[in-house]
Amino acid sequence: MPTLSRAFQTLPPYPLADLPGLKRELRAKGLDIIDLGAGDADLPPPPQAVKALREAAGRAEMSRYAFQLGLPAFREAVAEWMDLRFGVPVDPYTEVLPLIGSKEGLAHIPFAYLDPGDVAIVPDPGYPPYFGGPHLACADLVAIPLRRAKNFLLDLEEIPREKLSRAKLLYLNYPNNPTAATAPDDYLRRVIAFCREHDILCLYDNAYSELAYDGYTPPSILQFEGARDGTIEFFSLSKTYNMTGWRIGFAVGNRSAIGALTRLKTFMDNGLFLGAQAAGVATLRAWREFVPRNVAVFQERRDAAVEALSAAGFEVTVPKATMYLWIPIPGGEGSYDFCRRILLETGVALFPGAAMGKGGDGFFRVALTVSADRLREAAARVGNAVAATSSGGRGRNG
Ligand SMILES: Cc1ncc(COP(=O)(O)O)c(C=O)c1O
Repeated sequence: MPTLSRAFQTLPPYPLADLPGLKRELRAKGLDIIDLGAGDADLPPPPQAVKALREAAGRAEMSRYAFQLGLPAFREAVAEWMDLRFGVPVDPYTEVLPLIGSKEGLAHIPFAYLDPGDVAIVPDPGYPPYFGGPHLACADLVAIPLRRAKNFLLDLEEIPREKLSRAKLLYLNYPNNPTAATAPDDYLRRVIAFCREHDILCLYDNAYSELAYDGYTPPSILQFEGARDGTIEFFSLSKTYNMTGWRIGFAVGNRSAIGALTRLKTFMDNGLFLGAQAAGVATLRAWREFVPRNVAVFQERRDAAVEALSAAGFEVTVPKATMYLWIPIPGGEGSYDFCRRILLETGVALFPGAAMGKGGDGFFRVALTVSADRLREAAARVGNAVAATSSGGRGRNG
């Protein structure tokens, strides 16, 4: 066999890749597992999506290649939603691109922009394709830590000046996974000005735009003046509509970047299943009806988890958005060690902060993907395990 490429060989392990196997082993030993690791909720998708998919599956033309154009009605539904939701008009044919989930778009776009030696700026911690895409394109990564003291906003001043002349891409994600931070409007305006000044394309990942609480409404970066000159934004139906497995996402924004990603994908894939795009139309049109009810469920879970984890002794910040809590690990234990120990001792799977980059070490992430009661149960177990360690004993299931 030939050797694997250096870029491939130096990819880090994907976060949580070994979790399903470990969970199976623990279940076989009789442990009751509560999985708060992946951002993959246990809730149902909108009935409108299911109905539309059923109907589409019965139509022969939906079984043909979608190619990059896809279903015109999906592009039009995206444009309609961007206008309705953000007041951002986009041309459905030149400023919208259907994606097979937003992840592939985020991971593919570096191949259109980066040569070896070019620079991508990424948040640390950050969603793994922000690292994986540029790394596989043999570009240089400049990882900027997201610091609690700076409200987890990527500080543009921390980007080394000598790297800026080679920088072409900046990944940003607010509401943020994993920290749950949100970006104020004036920060987004500064990002736009910065990218324009340095001729950088901003890749704005807005996967959590609809999961927000307490009256907060996350913006689209495209709302702000000048954004369209240097930004494309990635959206996903995965989190908003409990449709992670359906793989429906889209990119919107700068025409030339959308064109580049379209051409790139022509060589990579033949587009998102047309039946899924038909379901996407029905889903986006169910937005007004579905989202508030779904958010109310997440909000109840958030409140239960915040209360129970605070009572268990953790320092919990109440998130304004996302399906995550981002919590410092007491006692300075590394995040991998802590999460492994907690899983083995209590059956609760938490996400180690360091799995999203060095900047995430010292934290763990809780996903609000199970009921409020299960979250309370998980918090009690984890709290007991931590209390037992700090008093020199062992966790109750240890
Ligand atoms: C920040 C962020 N962006 C994008 C995605 C990917 O979503 P999709 O299912 O559309 O690929 C996720 C999923 O976890 C995410 O957390």
